[in-house]
Amino acid sequence: MAYLAARTTRASVFGKTFLPFRQPSARTLTTRATSHTLNSGAKIPVLGFGTFQDPNSQEETVSQALQKGMRLIDTARVYDVEKQVGKGIKKSGVPRDDIFVGTKLWCNDYHPEDVERALDDSLRDLDTPYVDLLLMHYPCTFKRGPDRFPRDADGRMIPGKTTYVDTWKAMEKLTKSGKVKSIGVSNFSKGEIETLLKESSTVPAVHQMEVHPYLQQRGFNEWLRTQGIHVVQFSPLGNMNDFYRETGWSKEVAHMIRVIDQPILKEIGQKYGKTPVQVVLSWGINSGRSVIPKSVVDWQIEENLAANFELQPEDMAQIASLDVKARFNDPSLDYEWRLYSDLEGIEGTMRGKTH
Ligand SMILES: NC(=O)c1ccc[n+]([C@@H]2O[C@H](COP(=O)([O-])OP(=O)(O)OC[C@H]3O[C@@H](n4cnc5c(N)ncnc54)[C@H](OP(=O)(O)O)[C@@H]3O)[C@@H](O)[C@H]2O)c1
Repeated sequence: MAYLAARTTRASVFGKTFLPFRQPSARTLTTRATSHTLNSGAKIPVLGFGTFQDPNSQEETVSQALQKGMRLIDTARVYDVEKQVGKGIKKSGVPRDDIFVGTKLWCNDYHPEDVERALDDSLRDLDTPYVDLLLMHYPCTFKRGPDRFPRDADGRMIPGKTTYVDTWKAMEKLTKSGKVKSIGVSNFSKGEIETLLKESSTVPAVHQMEVHPYLQQRGFNEWLRTQGIHVVQFSPLGNMNDFYRETGWSKEVAHMIRVIDQPILKEIGQKYGKTPVQVVLSWGINSGRSVIPKSVVDWQIEENLAANFELQPEDMAQIASLDVKARFNDPSLDYEWRLYSDLEGIEGTMRGKTH
């Protein structure tokens, strides 16, 4: 209810038209590049579409988003929406080869002998012969088997017997099968990526990680750039998703004022005839990354799609000042693995259980 109220307030702020991004802009807007070339040679769009949650809406919204112009769809085995995403792609009428589709392996399928079968399961549900990107969802491995969240009698997650390096090597082989165009990781620390670089011959094409104005990870982002690893920002709007308020993951920081309600973002937006949401997404794109906001609301999807415009350096500098290093997605205690150990924003972690 609180979330609905917040939305209503926001609507009234912007008045009856409810489509502030259509207002004439005070400045001439310059559109940024629409894609980046990955170290695999594949091209990834800068603006994409997240599919975590709302499984019943995903078929229709994926179809709508593609018809409106989105060309990057991010999903994952553990979201349980791959079938809906596959149907949405078909329904959209957009040719498969024009779409960049990424999915993620889940931690109970990390044993090297399970990786190809797990990919095949995803391909079957997505109803596609290949994915453009396969990510390892987290660096932690869980016990092999059908249970996605295998827990012992005390409710503690049971770890797998192999490591993320073993999984990575199995993923490397898949790139030769034609079923995967590029491979990457998600939620890794710098040290974990360094280990992959040392112990394998493939540099991840992508690191998908939490980045927004409250968690800018400047040093890490810069380092990833020097390694040729493209960053895809998940939760690009910060603590927008109620999930992070409801779980035990970083509970206290999740209740901070929402990123998009920061007055400075509204002020910046007014200069360009853009909304705070668009400023936040544009900040990610202007920083050389891709962003994958999730939405099941028509006008929000359109708003997000119109977020690729050039921000002036003084506005980028103002947004830099919002970096309070607040991480909202930190299941370390639940997964029994100290995630992000050498990164910023791990102080707010709380014990919690979501599955
Ligand atoms: N690799 C990982 O571990 C990981 C973790 C988290 C997320 N992800 C990926 O990243 C995607 C996005 O992450 P996220 O859902 O955490 O965060 P997000 O996209 O930053 O926020 C989503 C929330 O913002 C709302 N929203 C979206 N556009 C809006 C707009 N224009 N105006 C107002 N509200 C708007 C959505 O509302 P409605 O949905 O109600 O429209 C939803 O509640 C996920 O769907 C998933 O694909 C990956």
